[in-house]
Amino acid sequence: MMQKKWLATGTLIVSVTVLFFACKHELPFPAGIIPVAEVANPGSSGKTCSADTVYFANEIQPLLNSSCAMTGCHDAITHKEGINLSTYLGTLKIVSPGKPSSSKLYSTIVQSGSNRMPPPPSPAMTTAQIAKIQKWITQGAINNVCDQCDTTNFKFSTAIKPLMDNKCVGCHNSASLGGNIDLSGYAGIKSAAVSGKLYGSVNWSNGISAMPKGGVKMPACEIQQIKKWIDAGTPNN
Ligand code: HEC
Repeated sequence: MMQKKWLATGTLIVSVTVLFFACKHELPFPAGIIPVAEVANPGSSGKTCSADTVYFANEIQPLLNSSCAMTGCHDAITHKEGINLSTYLGTLKIVSPGKPSSSKLYSTIVQSGSNRMPPPPSPAMTTAQIAKIQKWITQGAINNVCDQCDTTNFKFSTAIKPLMDNKCVGCHNSASLGGNIDLSGYAGIKSAAVSGKLYGSVNWSNGISAMPKGGVKMPACEIQQIKKWIDAGTPNN
């Protein structure tokens, strides 16, 4: 009797071990994809951006941070349904490189109804944001980064608004008002700027919460663009 019990326990341990390694084995990445855990910060990568490429570190991770990887959702701590979208490797688990339609990351953001991500009442991603994710997956879902920022461009429409849309709006819109601040349009962005909190938050100034929350500090050049726009009197240009 005793022996049988040990045998059963032994078999269980062996099976669990085999299963564990079998699962581990499935994790590695699709052919041609070399996962890189560390990404240089945009602004210090030394790589020039090419206009027809979508870059993970520049455009996709910030978008995921503000639309998906919030506290309570797909961040490193909560990782709902085992999905952590705060890192490249975590994101890759729901992506089939080269195939947007078989990637959960893509199929859930284009879905309608209550299964859509981000879930209602959060607004859906915009057509432009969806197209960006689609293109990044089509281009191989690479962990890429580049530097492109021009401090002489600090126009609201072409510099400030795109920055807010990419890095902030997911947590600062009418349905999700982080700190009671709505950065989805000119009025809200202006009032955050005038209060001194917009610059203070991205500059990680003392006494103001550092933004983007939970993310890396914005490149110095982007912080400069925001500062110049504020110094110019926050024009709606
Ligand atoms: C992951 C969600 C998230 C992202 C992304 C995010 N914020 Fe926030 N933000 C919050 C939350 C939550 C608060 C309120 C709690 C706090 O102050 O930490 C907040 C507060 C703020 C405040 C008020 C700070 C203060 O001390 O009063 C400002 C200004 C702000 N955010 C600007 C931004 C800007 C600009 C970006 C984009 C560069 C951004 N946020 C990105 C979640 C986020």
